[in-house]
Amino acid sequence: MNSRTFSRRQFLTTILATSVAPAFVRAQAGRKLNVAIIGCGGRGAGNLAEIAGAGENIVALCDVNANNLAAAAKKYPGAKTFSDFRKLYDEFKDFDAVAVSTAEHTHSFATLPALRMKKHVYCEKPLTHNVWETRKIREAAKAAGVATQMGTQIHALKNYRRVVELVQSGAIGGVTECHVWVSRAWGLQSEEAAKRNHDIVFVTDRPKEAQTPPAHFDWDLFLGPAMERPFHEVYFPGPKWYRWWDFGSGTMSDLGSHWNDLPFWALKLDAPTTIEAAGGPAHAELAPATMSATYEYGPRAGMPACKLTWHQGELRPALWNEKKIPQWGDGVLFVGDKGMLLADYNKHVLLPEEKFVDFKRPAPTIPDSIGHHKEWLEAAKNGGPTTCNFDYSGGLTEANHLGNVAYRVGKKINWDSAKLECPGTPEAAKFLKREYRKGWELI
Ligand SMILES: NC(=O)c1ccc[n+]([C@@H]2O[C@H](COP(=O)([O-])OP(=O)(O)OC[C@H]3O[C@@H](n4cnc5c(N)ncnc54)[C@H](O)[C@@H]3O)[C@@H](O)[C@H]2O)c1
Repeated sequence: MNSRTFSRRQFLTTILATSVAPAFVRAQAGRKLNVAIIGCGGRGAGNLAEIAGAGENIVALCDVNANNLAAAAKKYPGAKTFSDFRKLYDEFKDFDAVAVSTAEHTHSFATLPALRMKKHVYCEKPLTHNVWETRKIREAAKAAGVATQMGTQIHALKNYRRVVELVQSGAIGGVTECHVWVSRAWGLQSEEAAKRNHDIVFVTDRPKEAQTPPAHFDWDLFLGPAMERPFHEVYFPGPKWYRWWDFGSGTMSDLGSHWNDLPFWALKLDAPTTIEAAGGPAHAELAPATMSATYEYGPRAGMPACKLTWHQGELRPALWNEKKIPQWGDGVLFVGDKGMLLADYNKHVLLPEEKFVDFKRPAPTIPDSIGHHKEWLEAAKNGGPTTCNFDYSGGLTEANHLGNVAYRVGKKINWDSAKLECPGTPEAAKFLKREYRKGWELI
């Protein structure tokens, strides 16, 4: 290595190591990113493979499950290992970016310090555990000016792009109604329904007995900000914890992140004006297998007011039940004044089909994605856009959480997005925000 290269490297290392280095300084470096991975098993393993596969350096690994940590460390022996992400942030600052794939109730705790340190952040869906946390993360991301991306990788596929173009070009006219349905029925339900719906665990209340956590698993760190409770196998690993309000937000926020993303994008949605859910009464600890939530949106950017209904588990829209549309297991149906458009992750069809036989679809206007993870990595290096940055995905996440808020309150709520409150329904406040275990405040 000649002295010129060495001094340039030294210079860059010094600049890059400072936690306040703005994104553009890193961009000039044109080098590989140093990435920290928080949550290395489950979905985290997939994110890790995507990031390493894109050629970036994996410099730190963190997991509360020692087996998952060891498996990742074997593949990336040069990376420093941690079980507590707070220690990672305290002790190891020399990285550019972080990917967070922990359980939902720790997402904000693992992303907020990174944003404050001006690190680029990829965070799994749902971005946060509740509405208040989401707003905090959106604001922190805006202030940081770094590259952010939520893990809604379906957004990067071509199919969603073509649907957005069709809706926004007016192919089915003004859209005043939209239905989203997902057939996954996991969560609180009868034993018979759990069997029928192939649920992964059957539980109707917090277990009374305590079990000893596996030796390789740090239950206390997994709990993190959640109130203390004894370990039980009904909680861990994912997707078992998704149904417990203390750790997840049920299917509404989980799969809503992927499925409501399409109407959110196509119909330029942001904050709803009202939300009303059905399927209750709500359980204090467990999210339901089956529920629905109807959102009202005012007119936006040349689009008429619109009602969006989320149908989850065993519920379907009336048009589906009446067999007036194809019987897809999951779908998004846009109802316009000139026709309908039915879509899922990979395909779409204009309805009624006979009306659209000679339809000439608009030329594509939305460029293809270079890949969901690659968008983020490229933005971190060269400042390009990310399509699911924390502002866009934060709006989507807030809306999904609000479906749960309406469900848990058990009545129609009005939403004041600027004030972050439900006017006339003060009892909703406890579902917009939560209390944290002592020592885990999100400041
Ligand atoms: N984008 C997708 O298609 C997709 C698919 C599945 C899951 N997910 C999301 O990914 C996230 C993880 O879900 P999962 O099913 O893989 O869960 P999981 O329980 O398997 O956890 C993932 C990994 O994170 C570790 N972990 C958990 N809490 C941690 C903490 N506090 N600190 C460090 N490591 C921790 C776990 O030990 C595990 O190795 C969730 O937000 C989930 O919604 C996204």
